[in-house]
Amino acid sequence: MSRRMYRSALVIGGIVAAAALVGSTAASAAPGRPGEPRYGAGAEGAGDPYFPLAGNGGIDVLHYDLDLDYTPPAAEPAPLEGQLSGVATIELVATQDLDRFNLDLRGLTASSVVVGKKSMSFTQTDNELVITPRPKLKTGQSTTVVVTYGGTTTEPTDIEGALYGWVTTRDGAMVVSEPDGSATWFPVNDHPTDKATYSFEITVPEGLTAVANGVLAGSETAGGKTTWTWDAPDPMAAYLATATVGEFRLEQYTAANGTPIIDAIDVTRTPSQVAALALTGDMLSFFEERYGPYPFVSYGAIVDDDSVGYALETQTRSFFSRNASEGTVAHELAHQWMGDHVSPARWADIWLNEGWATYSSWIWLEHRGQSTAQARFQQVMNRAPGSSTWNTVVADPGPLGIFGTPVYDRGAATLHALRVKIGDTAFFDLATEWVARFGGGTATTADFIALAEEISGQDLADFFDVWVYQPPKPTAW
Ligand code: TRP
Ligand code: ZN
Repeated sequence: MSRRMYRSALVIGGIVAAAALVGSTAASAAPGRPGEPRYGAGAEGAGDPYFPLAGNGGIDVLHYDLDLDYTPPAAEPAPLEGQLSGVATIELVATQDLDRFNLDLRGLTASSVVVGKKSMSFTQTDNELVITPRPKLKTGQSTTVVVTYGGTTTEPTDIEGALYGWVTTRDGAMVVSEPDGSATWFPVNDHPTDKATYSFEITVPEGLTAVANGVLAGSETAGGKTTWTWDAPDPMAAYLATATVGEFRLEQYTAANGTPIIDAIDVTRTPSQVAALALTGDMLSFFEERYGPYPFVSYGAIVDDDSVGYALETQTRSFFSRNASEGTVAHELAHQWMGDHVSPARWADIWLNEGWATYSSWIWLEHRGQSTAQARFQQVMNRAPGSSTWNTVVADPGPLGIFGTPVYDRGAATLHALRVKIGDTAFFDLATEWVARFGGGTATTADFIALAEEISGQDLADFFDVWVYQPPKPTAW
């Protein structure tokens, strides 16, 4: 069906975006005769200045099939270390003539790499699995790469020191990988510009549940182990993939809008810690009215007893640390449209995720009779002159600023100010069109400004200049 056409349109979008980011990697290749392949190495990063090694040049992954076997730590006081072994079957297309290409892989060791059924030589550095395909790959050629790998899992941290990636827990693992933590659990083209579909077969000791994205295709127990099979057919950025393992109770139902819901609730959670999840169906309808149809095959929450200290909008299955508060439940659900379906083309564009998700919880809470969005906007505007809110370029907060308060709160305030300026009709038309036009792919701040101008018919250059490109507190817009 149209999914195929949709997919190929995305692939083209991905190639264009990657080429624009990386520049001409083919330039290093030896000059060839016209029409002859010009083989070279794919770049070691996707070209994102915030995370130079994240992602890779020269490849476009279409599908990851992740076959994982995981043993959590032994009983305490053993160290929090698990054992992971995996076989990743990766369908990809070469986007340049390649005699070498990389996948991102960190802290785990590859034992074999097969490209198109033949064993290949490879090397590993701290973050890169470097593969030398023979025969070499020509532009447009598809192939299947099978990486067998494994090792000891620990508690990885991002550049700010926050836990992320495959975070080993007492009873399993919390798997949340924004922005570049997927490489801690599978070989990956770890940048949002390369979305792919996923399938998972996760084998864990009997009694534990492995929860991934999409729909549950089944579970089978044999010899004291259970294999959980999940199918995630919606194109997904790698940081949104999960394979969280723990002592979970699965709760399945269909929301009023028809979306199948699977919540995974750690068995130790009390009813009050997860009460807000009962609002999921109402929230789905609320955001569908404003942003258009819910974009994925399913939804649900994972609420773990351990904590990474934050929640994450893992695609179709948002992750919550210990409890799921109403504002956070709304925030992560809204991300499914804003961040997951439309993803940042570069990490500098993260305010488009966090500003929208934060603003979405403002309008949801207003709908529920709490403070109005206008009141929350005013609270942000009342912040002291020395506040970080008034010294950050929201559309370029730096790699250490991507989860900072200004990105969230000034991002949300920007959207509220825009709504007041262009009016409710244009504002929500903009939201819906943003998702319709860029859904399944990525977009930039410039794309957002251009669409806002197109939909409102207003020149918004000065507006966005003071709100997202200049650090000081906006005074007129
Ligand atoms: N989970 C956060 C959100 O939904 C984003 C996030 C990812 C984060 N990693 C983080 C926040 C580390 C704080 C620290 O907005
Ligand atoms: Zn968020």
